[in-house]
Amino acid sequence: MNAFKKHVIDIQNEAFSLVAKVNTEEALNELEIRFLGRKSEFTALLKSLKDLSAKDRQTVGPLVNAVKQELLKAFAEAYQKIKLASVDWEKERLDVTAPGVKLPEGHLHILTQVQREIEDIFTSMGFDIVSGPEVETEFYNFNALNVPDNHPARDMQDTFWVKTKEGEEKLLLRTQTSAVQVRYMEKHTPPFQAIVIGKVFRNEATDTTHEFMFNQFEALMVGEDINVGNLKYIAQEFFSRFFKTEVKIRLRPSFFPFVEPGFEFDISCLSCGGEKGCSACRYQGWLELGGAGMVNQNVFVNAGYERNQYQGLAWGFGTERLAMMKYSIPDIRLFPAGDTRFLSQF
Ligand code: DAH
Repeated sequence: MNAFKKHVIDIQNEAFSLVAKVNTEEALNELEIRFLGRKSEFTALLKSLKDLSAKDRQTVGPLVNAVKQELLKAFAEAYQKIKLASVDWEKERLDVTAPGVKLPEGHLHILTQVQREIEDIFTSMGFDIVSGPEVETEFYNFNALNVPDNHPARDMQDTFWVKTKEGEEKLLLRTQTSAVQVRYMEKHTPPFQAIVIGKVFRNEATDTTHEFMFNQFEALMVGEDINVGNLKYIAQEFFSRFFKTEVKIRLRPSFFPFVEPGFEFDISCLSCGGEKGCSACRYQGWLELGGAGMVNQNVFVNAGYERNQYQGLAWGFGTERLAMMKYSIPDIRLFPAGDTRFLSQF
């Protein structure tokens, strides 16, 4: 038995001393096959264990197994050592103080930012923020707003009609946020003040100032003693805060079926202040913003109010137009185009 034990120890010592001298992976691999491979002396010894008597096996077995573990460990460590020796540490050097790579960060679309800014200003003045459906009935978009069938005013807004079945109520993509006026009035009792911001659609050709889909923001204030003075004051307050400069308001008589009197709404030029005129305002001193007026009593009647019980003011402006003025954006088609070269500027 002692000879068997000595043999095992000799193999171990020989392997240890050879492994210690090896410094390439291939050589180590060869050694591993030689000492632990299927045809190795050591494997032969392991196999021969079964021919020993049970008693001998009891004394030799644990030794052989322990040596096997030692050898496996020695090889694993040697592989690790060779691998580490081959690393080019200069190349692997990591500067933990170097600034990281900045990942591109998303942010709110410029229109959403402008929309929120408008909402913040109006919320601070006690207005409700409301919305309505983009697919709207003919009633709320036109008839309720005093635009009956075949009225020429319908031609002012080319409409995308939604296909409906014969006899069903006609649907369309709303052409104006004014469509929300009667919806809101039906559910609320004056006095109230609200703004509507949202998409509107017009079936028309596009150019730098026209898109078939754009946004409007509509204001509606109704009570027993609302007048044009309120309209001017609120508008002036809003625009001065929005453009962060003192803005003057000008109303010019105009016609919209849902207001009486109706106005074209201008603000003093943001570049020249309206005094001298400049290229931004085409030397007019004023910039056109949209329509406004005092709510036509027919609209109140359509909402179920009594005629002449209330007075209201309303306006509807293009949200993109405001953003274009504030940020000197030259083309309305940039907003929905999704070009990050444009969007990332804001
Ligand atoms: N809805 C009109 C349009 O889209 C704009 C407008 C004009 C809205 C006068 C109003 C208003 O509330 O009073 O052309």
